[in-house]
Amino acid sequence: MKSIKVFAPATVANVTCGYDILGFAVHEPGDEVLIKLTDSPGIKIKEIYGDRGLLPKDAERNTVSVAIKAFIDHLDIQPGVDIYLHKKMPLGSGLGSSAASAVAGIFGLNALLDNPLKVSDLLPFAMQGEAMACGEAHADNVAPALLGGFVLIRSYNPLDVVKIDSPKDLYATIIHPHIEIATKDARSILKKSILLKDAVQQWGNVAGLVTGLIKEDYALIGRSMEDVIIEPVRSMLIPGFDQVKAAALEAGALGCGISGSGPSIFSLSRSRDIAIQVGEAMNECFQSLNISSDRFISLVNQQGPLIIS
Ligand code: HSE
Repeated sequence: MKSIKVFAPATVANVTCGYDILGFAVHEPGDEVLIKLTDSPGIKIKEIYGDRGLLPKDAERNTVSVAIKAFIDHLDIQPGVDIYLHKKMPLGSGLGSSAASAVAGIFGLNALLDNPLKVSDLLPFAMQGEAMACGEAHADNVAPALLGGFVLIRSYNPLDVVKIDSPKDLYATIIHPHIEIATKDARSILKKSILLKDAVQQWGNVAGLVTGLIKEDYALIGRSMEDVIIEPVRSMLIPGFDQVKAAALEAGALGCGISGSGPSIFSLSRSRDIAIQVGEAMNECFQSLNISSDRFISLVNQQGPLIIS
């Protein structure tokens, strides 16, 4: 029996102004998926560890198996695939948990099948997992989880995904307060139309952020990390958001915002020392509100998925 175990990383989607079009990968946390090829055709989720029993083992309702099914349907093959999912990151956290699982699964299966597709061509199948999980096939978690680094989704139709350079010493600080927000719910509360003046401000910021990343212009990165459309609505779901953000900026972060659909909050800083101080400041805020939290500090993960064994 052939088998493979793959780690895929957590991701910060949106990166403030880039709703559904910008994301980056971090080194931790992430998920591990063990895939075994068997002689009995069909996709089976054999075990899920670390999910407190919350995730479905039904292969039609789990992001890993849905992504794998889309992939093998495309290849027009019918292998037996047993899946063992090790959730090593919190669910409903805004860290791309469903994306990490789907990416680890299809990346692993592609490797087991001797790479019939290029890694970048796996993206549409990973997106099927997101479509099942939250109703829309957004790519700003799966693309960076799969490709590593900072990723821009220039277009969804046709799919056009571009990796963006970023400064080597750019650190992310992520605070995950122990509350849960379902992406589906966080999407459903958003306004369906926006003012032209807000759109102008937002696309100026997106262009500024991308330029700042490529030119390693920290000041430009910082002043472009502004979201006038999504954050004002979603921040209401996160107790203490305004204080935590103010504390992060006061402690020296370049910018701060909601990670994906929340409740995690991320900051970017230009050194590890600043990223640590920022984490302390953000954490103290949540503590003062009696909300427990986890903290992650990471460089941008340029690699994406990693074969463990
Ligand atoms: N772009 C998505 C959203 C990311 O904000 O809904 C979900 O993690």
